[in-house]
Amino acid sequence: MTSQSKCTYILASILALLFLFVAKSVIAKEIEDDREFDYIKGSPKGPEKWGELKLEWAACKHGKMQSPIDLSNARVKFISQPEIRNYKPSNATLKNSGHDISVSWNGDAGSIFINGTEYHLQELHWHTPSEHTINGIRYDMELHMVHKSSDLNVQNRTAVIGVLYKIGRLDEFLAKLNESISSLIDKKGEERDLGIIDPNDIQAESQSYYRYMGSLTTPPCDEGVIWSVNTKVKNVSRNQINLLKEAVLDYAKENARPLQPRNNRDIDLYLSRYPTGY
Ligand SMILES: *[C@@H]1O[C@H](CO)[C@@H](O)[C@H](O)[C@H]1NC(C)=O
Ligand SMILES: *[C@@H]1O[C@H](CO)[C@@H](O)[C@H](O)[C@H]1NC(C)=O
Ligand SMILES: *[C@@H]1O[C@H](CO)[C@@H](O)[C@H](O)[C@H]1NC(C)=O
Ligand SMILES: *[C@@H]1O[C@H](CO)[C@@H](O)[C@H](O)[C@H]1NC(C)=O
Ligand SMILES: *[C@@H]1O[C@H](CO)[C@@H](O)[C@H](O)[C@H]1NC(C)=O
Ligand SMILES: [Zn+2]
Repeated sequence: MTSQSKCTYILASILALLFLFVAKSVIAKEIEDDREFDYIKGSPKGPEKWGELKLEWAACKHGKMQSPIDLSNARVKFISQPEIRNYKPSNATLKNSGHDISVSWNGDAGSIFINGTEYHLQELHWHTPSEHTINGIRYDMELHMVHKSSDLNVQNRTAVIGVLYKIGRLDEFLAKLNESISSLIDKKGEERDLGIIDPNDIQAESQSYYRYMGSLTTPPCDEGVIWSVNTKVKNVSRNQINLLKEAVLDYAKENARPLQPRNNRDIDLYLSRYPTGY
């Protein structure tokens, strides 16, 4: 090679590398930008804007019974008989949506009864930190178990159980999923078969819980959701929380929707002398 062609060769190589680098970052940006919504305050797709992003998401902005809320000044009620909970082990899939990590049951994972209506367990997912606060206190993590009624005559067809966690000892249920969650880090849209997962292993029973009418806390923010948030706060390790944060994309490391106006809604605090199932 002459020194001139050598020089041209080096220049061409540098240009090629530069091109690859730019192309790669453009592609990475596109992948990051196909998010439907995010949790970044002030961002064009942040929580304050959710209701404007799609017509079907209008409830996020105009709804009067939105979630989460601060749970305080509740009416105390006593449970005369425990609400029935009948969960079953069933095949499940772990999913990374980019904004949260969830476990979806493919088969029948059992159900709960509220006011005589049966709600089937569909999926669960985690928020870090907690979405609901109790008397102004925010916890480190909140688990949502989402149940649906298949009865078309039922007015409120979704029931969510919220379980709060503070940093402490290991959570046994998350510990079982450790490897599967690790394999989904930054892998938006991917999923893993978990085999049989028993919802009873979550140990979500609590002697008392808050109950109020609210909404989904992610778009479309649909209302008519019967919320039950346990008063019993469970433990989760810092590493387990960090793993969940690491697994989702950067815009959802803190995936708790801000508190919503209560708007004169009743909050009931149900107390029991025996575990109620949740
Ligand atoms: C779970 O899935 C496996 C394979 O996909 C299947 O063989 C098994 O019967 C399923 N178990 C239940 C309880 O559905
Ligand atoms: C349960 O039923 C009673 C009486 O029908 C009603 O007042 C109450 O709002 C219902 N609670 C829920 C959570 O649906
Ligand atoms: C359904 O929710 C409404 C509020 O959205 C509430 O007034 C009503 O009591 C609930 N009905 C049942 C049967 O749970
Ligand atoms: C979870 O998995 C990670 C990486 O796969 C490992 O470093 C860590 O020790 C595991 N933690 C537990 C509690 O099993
Ligand atoms: C959480 O851990 C503390 C000790 O760190 C323990 O006293 C408490 O009972 C645990 N809570 C639950 C709900 O297991
Ligand atoms: Zn949730």
